[in-house]
Amino acid sequence: MSTIGETLQADGAPAVRVAPDRWRPGDTPDPLIGQAQTLIGTPVSRVDGPLKVSGTARFAADVVLDRMVYAALAYSTIPKGRIVSIDTRAAEAAPGVVLVMTHRNAPPMHPPPAFLTGEKAAAGDDLPIMQDDRVNWNGQPIALVLAETQEQADHAESLVRAVYESEPAMTVFAKAKAHTRPASFVGHPLSLEIGDAEAALAAAPYKVDAVYRTPRQNHNAIELHAVTLGWIGDDLIVHDASQSVSHTAWSLAQVFGIEENHVHVTSPFVGGGFGGKCLWQHQILAAAASKLAGRPVRIVLSREGVYRVVGGRANTEQRVAIGAQTDGRFDALIHTGVAAMTRHNSLPEPFILPTLSAYAARNFKLDVQVADMDMLANTFMRAPGESVGTFALECAVDELSEALDIDPIELRIRNEPETDPTSGAPFSSRHIVEAFRSGAERFGWSARRPKPGTHREGEWLIGMGCATATYPYHRMAGGAARITLTKDSRVTVTFAAHEMGMGTATTQAMVTADRLGLALEQVTIAYGDSSFPGLILAGGSQQTASIGAAVIATHRQLVSDLLNLVAKDSPLAGLTPDEVGCRDGALCKLDEPERRESYGSILAHAQLETLTVESSAPAPVETQQWSMHSFGAMFCEMRVNAITGELRVGRFLGSFDCGRILNSKTAASQFRGGIIMGLGLALMEETQFDERNGRIMNASLAEYHVPVHLDVPEIDVTWTDIPDPHAPMGAHGVGEIGITGVGAAVANAIYNATGKRIRDLPITLDKLL
Ligand code: MOS
Repeated sequence: MSTIGETLQADGAPAVRVAPDRWRPGDTPDPLIGQAQTLIGTPVSRVDGPLKVSGTARFAADVVLDRMVYAALAYSTIPKGRIVSIDTRAAEAAPGVVLVMTHRNAPPMHPPPAFLTGEKAAAGDDLPIMQDDRVNWNGQPIALVLAETQEQADHAESLVRAVYESEPAMTVFAKAKAHTRPASFVGHPLSLEIGDAEAALAAAPYKVDAVYRTPRQNHNAIELHAVTLGWIGDDLIVHDASQSVSHTAWSLAQVFGIEENHVHVTSPFVGGGFGGKCLWQHQILAAAASKLAGRPVRIVLSREGVYRVVGGRANTEQRVAIGAQTDGRFDALIHTGVAAMTRHNSLPEPFILPTLSAYAARNFKLDVQVADMDMLANTFMRAPGESVGTFALECAVDELSEALDIDPIELRIRNEPETDPTSGAPFSSRHIVEAFRSGAERFGWSARRPKPGTHREGEWLIGMGCATATYPYHRMAGGAARITLTKDSRVTVTFAAHEMGMGTATTQAMVTADRLGLALEQVTIAYGDSSFPGLILAGGSQQTASIGAAVIATHRQLVSDLLNLVAKDSPLAGLTPDEVGCRDGALCKLDEPERRESYGSILAHAQLETLTVESSAPAPVETQQWSMHSFGAMFCEMRVNAITGELRVGRFLGSFDCGRILNSKTAASQFRGGIIMGLGLALMEETQFDERNGRIMNASLAEYHVPVHLDVPEIDVTWTDIPDPHAPMGAHGVGEIGITGVGAAVANAIYNATGKRIRDLPITLDKLL
């Protein structure tokens, strides 16, 4: 195998300006963008792949602790009221039962800090947990049983009997939305007016004005929510399925009133997160019960349990109105509406977010209202806001294109903004037009027949649709990393990040190897542990940027420390970090690469076995200076059976513009996964919420439909691969962009196939007949 140095020499590449990592957020580009790379962009298989296919990757529910007991939860059956009595005698007498915990014997706990209410807050809501007789939603845990086996716990749980006193509950959306309140999202109002959009709409020669509805959706990560935990003295040791190890550790510490450093959360492997795997009641209840029983506890929510305990996406009702001139330019862009929410969480489904920057318009009116309901707290679910917001917006653009008789792609391009239309900030890197043009070419868009219902093959009506995909670039504060270099030129990079299947460890190993001039095999990534550096959320599609910025800072620190160690007679003596680069396991002078000394030699001369440095990422000021987003152009071919209404996705193409693509294999997988989730959103997913009693009725994968293999056609993905000079590694997030725009691309294709405009998700055959 060739080393990176040999490869570079073979290519005649110059010395690599890596060490003086002068990337400053919003200012100097990451030097890694400009240099010849060995690994970045290539299709590297997951470093954790062999562990997963051989079954040796240990997930949270695989951890075995000494004297461990198993937990099961009983759930309330009313949406609101109080528990008058709860009979646990039969459960306590059942075989193997160790403990039955209810509000009568649960230890005192503080309410959990709800996500987004503090920098490390991780909980789904801030309701007290088993501290009183109150019932706040239908499905709230009312008892936890511990037993020697899972089966014994499940059986005993079924013997718990509760008597309730019901109180009037708000479980009807139509009633709830009669009393809405304005929404705010991370401290900002979800409301914006520029000019007089209603007047401009009224005056516009062409317009659309329609209401779109999206249903409740629930999380269905294939790995069930699971935690294995125990107390060692006053320390709580938690093996969790988590996308927020450090946030969860801090939040658990708040609940139990202990110091943060007494809670240790690990989560080396996670079978899908999507926003659903932060802190919910099951971890807290398991920790409380473990304390009472004096034994370690494992709890794995059943599939039904995930629906009862873990919030999902709220339903929305959105108005989109666009007024346009005869040339198609938007005068007015209105996107308003209402989403269900509880008073105990902080996520009003922010569906106007895509509309903030998607199109140029002279007048804007954007507003999200929330309707309070008595239900399990809704939460983040892959691209909250954009997933359902792009459905409404991008269907409306399609409807307008027909009214104007302008090709939908052409209409979008005519309204392409030069700067962010609502903030005025320049775009850091926006190549959505290229994504549309190349995607259209590759998909064969020119074969689309503009008149709906005119392409038929036997019983099948065929149509094409497209839509814009958009999701913001985020980089949250708190990124930090530790690099340990050994005398034999091996490097371990450590940070409190997460691997939920995205390829985090693989991609960061590639980035680190290229940055340090090492081979992939010389780099180990350590992650998934709250004791590691950094406050890093695997959410908002920002983990890669957060880690990347931290690795840049830590790498620079490493180079500086190495230069401080070099001997007086080293070829590097007297050089500053700005004068050297990393290459072939050595530091070298940038303009005189023969002046070099290997890492091993530097450490040996300094009589060190290892050198460890730690540093933090700079504040994410790039997002204050630039409007930064991932983009995509989605193309769908739908086949609709004219007799039965049966729907088939014929083909799908996602053409993305997400900056530099770091690993073409894992990124393609992320894009495809997002699109598949988007097909579920478009065609299947719907939580059936019984408005009489607030009960979720289809709490299983048998009744809540997600796409299976036969529902998913060949999905083609392509990307511009144009680095953003203002992002670490030039990269934007790829985790959530794939689900956005898909709902509209499907709906628009169905319209083109049939002439039927369905504005309510999911688009099921009954709505077409
Ligand atoms: Mo994502 S909904 O930010 O995990």
